[in-house]
Amino acid sequence: MIVRILGAAAGGGFPQWNCHCRGCEASRSGRATALTQSSIAIRANGGDWFLINASPDVRQQIELMRAHNCFAEQNGRSLPFAGIILTDAEIDHTTGLMLLRESSHPLKIYSSDRVKFALTTGYPLFSTLQNYCGVDWSPLDAAISLASDLEVEAFALSTKPPKYMQNEDRSPDEVWGVGLTIRDLSTGKTLTYAPGLAAIDETMQRRLNASDCIAIDGTFWTDDELPALGVGARSALQMGHLPLSGERGSLRQLEGLTGPRKILVHINNTNPILIPNSPERQAVESQEVEIGCDGLMFDL
Ligand code: MLT
Ligand code: MN
Ligand code: ZN
Repeated sequence: MIVRILGAAAGGGFPQWNCHCRGCEASRSGRATALTQSSIAIRANGGDWFLINASPDVRQQIELMRAHNCFAEQNGRSLPFAGIILTDAEIDHTTGLMLLRESSHPLKIYSSDRVKFALTTGYPLFSTLQNYCGVDWSPLDAAISLASDLEVEAFALSTKPPKYMQNEDRSPDEVWGVGLTIRDLSTGKTLTYAPGLAAIDETMQRRLNASDCIAIDGTFWTDDELPALGVGARSALQMGHLPLSGERGSLRQLEGLTGPRKILVHINNTNPILIPNSPERQAVESQEVEIGCDGLMFDL
């Protein structure tokens, strides 16, 4: 299977239009590499590409894939992806659907029921798209087959509803976000993708360690990152993201994993690991954890 990181930043991108944190300024001055918003793409065996999450930067991300000769020559105005898989209904993972409305065919979208509910009520993208290209929705519950040699299994990750949901519809007991284990049946290789990881328990450790590659939540360095900078009220954990640093942080938990190649994705612009030569970046790299970047593509 081929895996391509289309966008390695979290919501807002890097730099974020209204942010003057150290990282955003470094990126504006060319000292740090800019990143688009959270999305990856996969394909197996020279088959169709699948898009995982549709970021507000999807237009630019598709053009970069085209420039890198990822697509065979295409005619007409169809979508260059056989399907779109959504891990959650967050704005940064779904707004790109609106930009894909010019597709000549209905968008084939896989998501949980909860995500469908959010995208027909709180942020009604599915309803809106009905009058454009249309939506051909399929449930993403247990393991489903995407193509003859590509299978995806969704597992529960986050009970945090998107901020835009009305209070009466927020039901925090529901699963609002999932992670994905994607398996290439012809090679047996697996990728586990989890951009919103709130905790790593033993079951999760086992799942991660059994994967050949993991692309996981690298949103924040510290739990109080946004409040400490005065740019947000909620802590990382309140937002459903386990911070990287600290005794109970994700880096410590990744140390024990000997199986997979480890890549951080969904990295927030305030995260100091985005600044070249920062001690935080060095700490990550010295642990053989990779910091995702746009356009990173590899064969698994
Ligand atoms: C998240 O990843 O937690 C959300 O995308 C944050 C947001 O509401 O923008
Ligand atoms: Mn996000
Ligand atoms: Zn910033």
